[in-house]
Amino acid sequence: MFLRNCWYVIAWDYEIPAGKLVPRRVMDDPIVLYRRQDGSLVALEDRCVHRLAPLSLGRLEGDDVRCMYHGMRFAPDGHCNDVPGLTQAIPDRACVRTYPVQERNSWVWVWLGDAAKADPALIPESVGLEHPEFVVKSGQLDYQADYMLINDNLTDLSHLSFVHANSFGADLQWSTTRPEVEALPRGIRVSRWVEGSPPIPPLGDAASHSSVDIWSSYEFMVPGLFLMYTALFPTGTAKRLNSGPPPDDLVSLHSNFTSQAVTPTSPGTARYFFAWGPRRSQGDAAMAQLMLDIAQGAFLEDKVMIEAQQTVKSLDTGRGVMPLPADRGPLLYHRILQKLIDAETPSASKSATTHKAL
Ligand code: FES
Ligand SMILES: [Fe+2]
Repeated sequence: MFLRNCWYVIAWDYEIPAGKLVPRRVMDDPIVLYRRQDGSLVALEDRCVHRLAPLSLGRLEGDDVRCMYHGMRFAPDGHCNDVPGLTQAIPDRACVRTYPVQERNSWVWVWLGDAAKADPALIPESVGLEHPEFVVKSGQLDYQADYMLINDNLTDLSHLSFVHANSFGADLQWSTTRPEVEALPRGIRVSRWVEGSPPIPPLGDAASHSSVDIWSSYEFMVPGLFLMYTALFPTGTAKRLNSGPPPDDLVSLHSNFTSQAVTPTSPGTARYFFAWGPRRSQGDAAMAQLMLDIAQGAFLEDKVMIEAQQTVKSLDTGRGVMPLPADRGPLLYHRILQKLIDAETPSASKSATTHKAL
């Protein structure tokens, strides 16, 4: 299940410093990222037209990149503008693919499909490292698993009770209570109260409470963006609100935001980007680091389970799954993603180019 007309998180912005060629892969498209001299980003096919050497092993020359195998030089628009030793004009087909690229909320996003449809307004609003309301710390993990297994994990948090009983201290209610799940044009929204439960995280004013009511609400958007707000209140708050969402002016014991992105790097591998931290008025960078340390322990627990699941799944690809009531999120998300994939025009499909000799 892979959508091409979509923005994919390819890197944290701090991973692309000036003067560096950074190789990445999104669904087997090799891409090299770098910055022009004015700081703006370029995303080019990381494959020279001559003999397919990666341009990421090349050399930056101003805003251009020179292949360091036989010296062809490419401009940010993908066109070759120098071929050492070539006496005739450089043909138009001496050109690598360029990808629309955007920098937003500390993430670098690339559009894999039809460039004419690359609308920056389709980039969901995540919480980045410079957010005015939340202070977050960031990390990433590589997975040896299909990205959809990670998406399934994030669209159904019932696993918290079992996979994260120790790291997050999640109790059984995460498995036994059902969230509200709604369809969105390019994803789903999942919201719920978990009542009288151990605080996750047990920090700030929540640290002195052995149990709290936890409100969590997240949007899960294509291709795999998890954007969750969580707020902890004294036990009894959910009942007082008749299980409705907490009003904005209701002061919590602690609240936080996490932005996560799952990017398929190949059909069986993925990169998982994440950030988490408290509201600035309820915590600081040290608390954000503590939270990230907890989260990284938890995300390694997910990784162990999901990679093992992938291994078993790969033994018998024809074997079906047996959904449970908690799978409403994953099932609805699959349907929405499939609908978007079905609606893609042929122009979005990946095309192979055969190059003739110069
Ligand atoms: S492979 Fe790039 S110039 Fe030969
Ligand atoms: Fe998890």
